[in-house]
Amino acid sequence: MSNGQEAPVFYKPSPEIVANANAKSYEELARHASEDLPGFWAKQAEQFEWFQKWDTVLDESAAPFYKWFTGGKTNIVYNCLDRHVATWRRNKLALIWEGENGEVRTFSYHALNREVCKFANVLRSMGVKKGDRVTIYMGRVPELPIAMLACAKIGAIHSVVYGGFSVEALHGRLEDSQSNVAITCDGGYMNGKIVELKKIMDEALKRAATVEHVIVFKRTGHDVPMEAGRDYWYHDLMALPIARSAAGGNRCETEVMDAEDPLFMLYTSGTTGKPKAILHTHGGYMVGVATTLKWVFDLKEEDRWWCAADPGWVTGHSYIVYGPLLLGATSFMYEGAPTYPYPNRWWSMVEKYGINVLYTAPTAIRGLMRFGEAWPNRHDLSSLRLLGTVGEPINPEAWRWYHRVIGKERCPIMDTWWQTETGMFMITPLPVVDLKPGSATRPFPGVVADIVDDQGRPVATGEEGYLVLKRPWPAMLRTIYRDPDRYVQQYWTKYPGLYFTGDSARRDEDGYFWIIGRVDDVLKVSGYRLGTAEIESALVSHPAVAEAAAIGLPHEIKGNAIHTYVILKAGHEPSEALAEELKVHVGHELGPIARPEKINFVPQLPKTRSGKIMRRVLRARALGLPEGDVTTLEE
Ligand code: WT7
Repeated sequence: MSNGQEAPVFYKPSPEIVANANAKSYEELARHASEDLPGFWAKQAEQFEWFQKWDTVLDESAAPFYKWFTGGKTNIVYNCLDRHVATWRRNKLALIWEGENGEVRTFSYHALNREVCKFANVLRSMGVKKGDRVTIYMGRVPELPIAMLACAKIGAIHSVVYGGFSVEALHGRLEDSQSNVAITCDGGYMNGKIVELKKIMDEALKRAATVEHVIVFKRTGHDVPMEAGRDYWYHDLMALPIARSAAGGNRCETEVMDAEDPLFMLYTSGTTGKPKAILHTHGGYMVGVATTLKWVFDLKEEDRWWCAADPGWVTGHSYIVYGPLLLGATSFMYEGAPTYPYPNRWWSMVEKYGINVLYTAPTAIRGLMRFGEAWPNRHDLSSLRLLGTVGEPINPEAWRWYHRVIGKERCPIMDTWWQTETGMFMITPLPVVDLKPGSATRPFPGVVADIVDDQGRPVATGEEGYLVLKRPWPAMLRTIYRDPDRYVQQYWTKYPGLYFTGDSARRDEDGYFWIIGRVDDVLKVSGYRLGTAEIESALVSHPAVAEAAAIGLPHEIKGNAIHTYVILKAGHEPSEALAEELKVHVGHELGPIARPEKINFVPQLPKTRSGKIMRRVLRARALGLPEGDVTTLEE
C-alpha cells in the first residue's frame, strides 16, 4: 500500500457501487441458482428474443453432451443487432474503434447492422450457407467483428485464428475446419510495423485444399499479391449489387437457428500437438455470456466498456463482440500495442473516450507497471468505475498497483477465472463482493466448482487439488469439432461426471478460490495458452533437431516464459547462431508468442520408463529445487 500500512484482508466495495449494482446480492442469486438451476437460467434466457421458446432448459440425457434450451429457436445476431435497431438504440454507438495510427471509426447500432447485413449478403452470394465454416484471420479492425457477426447471421460457423499466429498454426486450423472461405487483411499494424497477414495466409493456403475464396480487407494498403479468381478485395465486394438484398437495400434476413446449432469454433491448445476446436452454440452461449457481463462488469446503458483483449481469443468473442452487443452496450476497441508510441497510450484513450470499465490481463498490467506511475498519472482516469483481469493468476503486487494507480482505490477489480471451453466467467467476483488480491473469489451463481484429489475426493480447506466443475452451465463447450471422443476423454474421463479444468487451485477458509495454474502440459505465456507439444513439434520440424522438450519458467512480465531443451541430430553442433535460428523457426511456424526465451542444447532428456519426457524434472533442475518437489499434481 502507498501509505505503508498493512494491506487489508478484504477490499470492500463502496456503498455507491453496491447501491447501483445490477446484481445486488451474490448470496441471493447463488441460492436461487442452487435451488433451481434450470429456473435460474430460464429467467435470464427470457430477456432475449426467441423465434420459438425452448421446451427444456437443460437436457442431461446424453451427458456429457449436455444441451441447453432445446427446442428453442433464435440467432445470437438477432439479439445483438436486429433487436436493437428496432429501438432507440439504433442511434447509440455500438463500437468506437481507434487504430494504432490514431485513426478513429465509430459505428452506431444502425451502421454496424448495415455493414453486417451487407457482408452477410456477400458471403451468401459466394455460396456460404448454414453450417459452413469460415476462417477469419485478421488484425484488430472493426471488420473482424463484422465478419464474425455476418457469419453467425447466416448460420455459418466462424473460426477466428488469432492474427499473431503464423503459417503452421493457421494452416492446421484451415485444414481441420475445412473452411471454404477465408477472410483476412492485407496487413495489420502492431508497434508501428506491418504484420504480413495476407502473405502468411498465402503460405498457409499452399497446402490447404478446401479454401476456394479469400476476402481481403485493405488496412495497410501495402502491396500484396492477389490471386485472380481466388482473392477478392472486401471493399470491391461491398460495393457490388451482391451486397444488397434481393429486395434491394442493405437488409439481410437473419437465419433462424436452433438453440443448439453451432455458432463458432475456436482452436485452443491441449496436451497433444494438435489444437482442438472448441465448439460453442447460439442459445446457451448467448444467455451465459450476456448474464455474466451484465452482473460482473455491471454495464449500464450509458457506459463505455473496453475489453482490451484480441477478438481472436475467447475473451474477445465473448466480451468484445457478443456480450456487449447483447446488452446494447458501447464497446471500445483498440488496434495496436499498449505502449505505442509511448507507455501512456492506453491511459490517454481511457481519458479521451471516458472509459468506465476496463478489462485486461495480468501480463499487460505488469508490462505497463514497469514504466512507472508517471504515465498513467498524466491522465484523468476518473471515468473508470470497475476494472477486470483474466488469463492467469494475478500476483497481489500487480493487483494492488492496478487498484491504486489505475483505479485510485475506488474501482473494484473483477478477477475472472474461465476458459475457452467455458465460454463465460466461471469463478469471479461481482462488484458487491469483498475482494482479496489474487483470488478470483467464488463461483458465479449456478456454477458449482470444487477442488479434488487424484481420486476425485474433495480436499481439505487450504490444500491444493484439481479444480473441477460439477454442474453444466449454458455457455459450456458442446464438443470438440469433429472429435467427440476427444471431448469426452479430455474433460469428462478423469472424473466421470465432473468437468476437468486442467487447473489446480486451493480454497481458503472463506470459501475463496485461489487458482494456482495448469497441471497438464499447457503453458500460459503472457496469458496465451500454448501446448508444450506444439512447441516441441515446431522444434522437431527443424532439420537440425532430433528431440525437444519445452517447459515454462517464471517470468516477471509474461508470467511464464518458454524454455526448451534440444537434442541435436548427428552432424550438428550447438551454437548461439543455431539457438537463434531455432527461435526464429518456432516463431515462423507458430507465431511470435511461441518464440522460446531460451534454447538449451542437451545430450539427453529425463524420461519415464515408458519414454515420456519428465518436464517436471527439467523444471525442478532449472529452478534448483529437489526433483520430486515441484508439483505433486503433474503426471
Ligand atoms: C486458462 C484458460 C478465459 C479467457 C482467457 C484464457 C487460466 C484464466 C484466470 C484467472 C487464474 C486464469 C487458467 C485457465 N486463467 N483466467 N482469472 N486466474 N488463471 O482462456 O486460453 O482458454 O485459458 O487460463 O489456467 O485454465 P484460455
